[in-house]
Amino acid sequence: MPTNLFDLSGRSALVTGGSKGLGKAMARAFAEAGADVAISSRHQTELQAAAAEIREGTNARVPYLVADMTRRPDVDRLADWSVETLGKVDILVNNAGSNLPQPIDQLRDEDWDQLIQLNLTSCMALSRALAAGMKARRWGRIIHISSVLGLTGKGGRSIYCATKTGLIGLARASAIDLGPYGVTVNCIAPGPFLTDLPMNLLSEEEKAQFAARTALGRWADPRELAGTALLLASEAGSYISGTTITVDGGLLAKGL
Ligand SMILES: NC(=O)c1ccc[n+]([C@@H]2O[C@H](COP(=O)([O-])OP(=O)(O)OC[C@H]3O[C@@H](n4cnc5c(N)ncnc54)[C@H](OP(=O)(O)O)[C@@H]3O)[C@@H](O)[C@H]2O)c1
Repeated sequence: MPTNLFDLSGRSALVTGGSKGLGKAMARAFAEAGADVAISSRHQTELQAAAAEIREGTNARVPYLVADMTRRPDVDRLADWSVETLGKVDILVNNAGSNLPQPIDQLRDEDWDQLIQLNLTSCMALSRALAAGMKARRWGRIIHISSVLGLTGKGGRSIYCATKTGLIGLARASAIDLGPYGVTVNCIAPGPFLTDLPMNLLSEEEKAQFAARTALGRWADPRELAGTALLLASEAGSYISGTTITVDGGLLAKGL
């Protein structure tokens, strides 16, 4: 066991959707802990700026690749590129995700297909591709970014809830497959975090409601997810597998 359980020196990570929001905060935490971190998203300019921010003041290599996770060839290319560029991927964070709210009776097939591909299928495909190397090296960490909406429901969120609950099942079962090889698989279920995704989606009233529903009475800063990501990515989380850690300011605890 290392002296610093959270040290990631010598480790390499891939964080999808690392150009902003939660992905950038987690990538920054990994770089600060000593890892090289590859990031991806659909926009080159944002990736370039984020890579500079993540790298700042660290010795980390932060390569980036433009890849659309709704496109299967891009997902496969990202897996190959990350191994070629980093030499190995020890830590995979399946973070890229989005939401397309619509009630079930108005749900459009093309939106269902797109969000299933982005929020769930791409996570399976990257896990499958990168698990081989982790198994061979007898060490690995796979972290899916689910949501409190993977554990509870919200009107108009059928597709999103289905994908985020799907990740929890994926983590449970694949943790059993990979456990004998020293690879852990877990989900993080964030509550309301101040990022573009909810800010662009919710009305002012809904934003206030979300804050009021948490025990802490506020939205979270993206950096407040970094500690949990680091726990699951490092030696500190060596015996945590097949589970979901909720980081929601007490939202699920508060209930009614
Ligand atoms: N913020 C919250 O309150 C909250 C709560 C629960 C769960 N989550 C989950 O946390 C994850 C990160 O969300 P966030 O809040 O940080 O949102 P965000 O700030 O909008 O960031 C999303 C990231 O994913 C990338 N992305 C989106 N669509 C993509 C696609 N088709 N292909 C590749 N990359 C794509 C975005 O880059 P481009 O758009 O440039 O591609 C960006 O880097 C998501 O899975 C989300 O469901 C967030």
